[in-house]
Amino acid sequence: MSAVIRLSGVCRVFPSEPPVRALSNVDIDVREGDYVSIVGPSGSGKSTLLNVLGLLDRPTSGSYVIDGVESTSLGESARAALRGSRIGFVFQSFHLLPHRTAVDNVGLGEVYRGGQRKTRAARAKAALERVGLGHRVGFRPDRLSGGERQRVAIARALFGEPALLLCDEPTGNLDRATTASVLSLFDSLREQGVTLVVITHDEEVSRRAARRVRIEDGRLTEEPW
Ligand SMILES: Nc1ncnc2c1ncn2[C@@H]1O[C@H](COP(=O)(O)OP(=O)(O)OP(=O)(O)O)[C@@H](O)[C@H]1O
Ligand SMILES: [Mg+2]
Repeated sequence: MSAVIRLSGVCRVFPSEPPVRALSNVDIDVREGDYVSIVGPSGSGKSTLLNVLGLLDRPTSGSYVIDGVESTSLGESARAALRGSRIGFVFQSFHLLPHRTAVDNVGLGEVYRGGQRKTRAARAKAALERVGLGHRVGFRPDRLSGGERQRVAIARALFGEPALLLCDEPTGNLDRATTASVLSLFDSLREQGVTLVVITHDEEVSRRAARRVRIEDGRLTEEPW
């Protein structure tokens, strides 16, 4: 199986006074179908890494290849296109549009990306079925539970068939029971071959992944399984 992402010698130094080395020689390969969690304490570099992986920030040095493309030498518009087509984001807060139904929320991202308009609603409905919300298609977010909202956000992130689903504290706003339902959804997405990277400070969430990577002071270490 091919590497979906490959970071080699990635450093991110913030030019503050004194400079902060938030990522230090990071090497990691994530292969198709991998389920990787990244855990680390506050200030260890998780958000910095997420921003680099999500093409929202550039490394100061090193290489980041996503889906076979070296991203560090691309211009901003090419990076934005790559981000829009290859990466699905899931955040702690769900960022759903309050006055739109679940099915609209799932399909709306594509309005900006282009795509087959005629079939959009049917495909968005199928995406909701994939996350177990086929019975909530016409509901607005205020009538959904927290876990259901996060599942709508996950359906939206998966809608464009991204190479990578990048999750930043996806259960940070959820209670234990709802967290469990999102984690079982991740298990089933993994069975469907989705490539998942989950950044979390929650040990229970990180233990569910197939690979566990720890970040401390900007350095990554993979935990043996
Ligand atoms: N723009 C910036 N300028 C200077 N230093 C920064 C900047 N952004 C982050 N840092 C520093 O880089 C280090 C890593 O920060 P980062 O936000 O990646 O941590 P984190 O692991 O996400 O922490 P948390 O769990 O608290 O969100 C910290 O020491 C932080 O102070
Ligand atoms: Mg953070």
